[in-house]
Amino acid sequence: MDFKKDFPIFKNNNEKYPLIYFDNASTTQKPQCVINSISHFYSHYNANVHRGNYKIAEKATLEFENSRQTIANFINAEKDEIIFTTGTTESINLIAYSFTSLLKDEDEIIISEMEHHSNILPWQMIKEKKNIKIRYIPVNEDGQLDLNQLESLINKKTKLCSIISMSNILGTINDLNKISKLTNKYNIPLLVDAAQSIAHEKIDVKKLNCDFLVFSGHKIMGPTGVGVLYMNRKFLNILPPFLRGGNMNKEVGYETSTWNEIPWKFEAGTSNIAQVIGLKNSIDYVKKIGFDEIKIHNKKLTDYLVKNLKDINNINIYGHKDKNFGPIVSFNIAGCHPYDISKLLGEYNICIRAGHHCGQILMKKLKTNFTNRISFQFYNSIDEIDFFIKSLKKIVKILKN
Ligand SMILES: Cc1ncc(COP(=O)(O)O)c(C=O)c1O
Repeated sequence: MDFKKDFPIFKNNNEKYPLIYFDNASTTQKPQCVINSISHFYSHYNANVHRGNYKIAEKATLEFENSRQTIANFINAEKDEIIFTTGTTESINLIAYSFTSLLKDEDEIIISEMEHHSNILPWQMIKEKKNIKIRYIPVNEDGQLDLNQLESLINKKTKLCSIISMSNILGTINDLNKISKLTNKYNIPLLVDAAQSIAHEKIDVKKLNCDFLVFSGHKIMGPTGVGVLYMNRKFLNILPPFLRGGNMNKEVGYETSTWNEIPWKFEAGTSNIAQVIGLKNSIDYVKKIGFDEIKIHNKKLTDYLVKNLKDINNINIYGHKDKNFGPIVSFNIAGCHPYDISKLLGEYNICIRAGHHCGQILMKKLKTNFTNRISFQFYNSIDEIDFFIKSLKKIVKILKN
């Protein structure tokens, strides 16, 4: 199926070459239905939510809360376990901040060497306040988490385990069921950073048995500025709110105040209403395509890309030695700087990333500072990969001369 027709950005291109967008791990393109839903909100019923009782305010509140229900159904959570944030980064910061209330000096948090900076720095922030220890699950040479080490990292002081579900650099799909079995065995809360996997596979928080799960709307064809934090019911009342202000309080006194019902206790101030409504539409759109189709298509593209990249002399493709990898591929070509490659590919209107991809700890493990990264979505095609490989070969020739 040609899904490009649903995305106006591919039609609104006045460059010499058609737009080839291979940077979906960074952010995805937006279908017309999502853009329309945002425009419709502002044009027809723009009002604040949970405040006014006039007609358009009630309509805005209804659509906003409908979005919460859609997201809850999407990941098999309850509606009031869904908290809207501005993105994955804010979701993890919220948990880290609130979770501090349950931590003592010497307590330990387990993350991995594969984490995005947004699942490292919030824990380092906590370390500055409380003398906690951050322990890392190592990444092995094949780009997989060494889960044999996880059990030995756990001890009586371990208070939380926070793990990326799919690497934003290598595409590694982590065995969350195995991780969850272990964390549950030792009664350790599990946070899943689903920023990458949310647009590639069905997630069921109940089956996964996790306590927190976070993602950003913009990585699943939705708008920027909206993210989701799933918080298991058992934490909703225990954890204190992160931001304080309007809408999150019940009774405000001179000295102390009480909090609103869940989940609004965690949603201070005016929410990103248009974005939340847009996210509902993006999830409805993705559900219509279905993850079976998305997975088959993106696997075909990834296998084809890796096979063709292997033809390039002196290329180092990270990971992708077995089946546990999603549609994200990082590589380096000896003698060619990743920034030169991505810049020159831009001349052909091909968008790929160069950089450390907010994973400097993993970069150290890979013994490099930067990689080029390609990441697919269902609107990409084999023809695009052919044009990319042809262009890349020309560029490598120029750079090596
Ligand atoms: C795995 C992972 N976690 C967290 C983030 C941060 O997401 P955001 O910038 O939308 O907050 C990203 C973004 O690339 C990511 O790939």
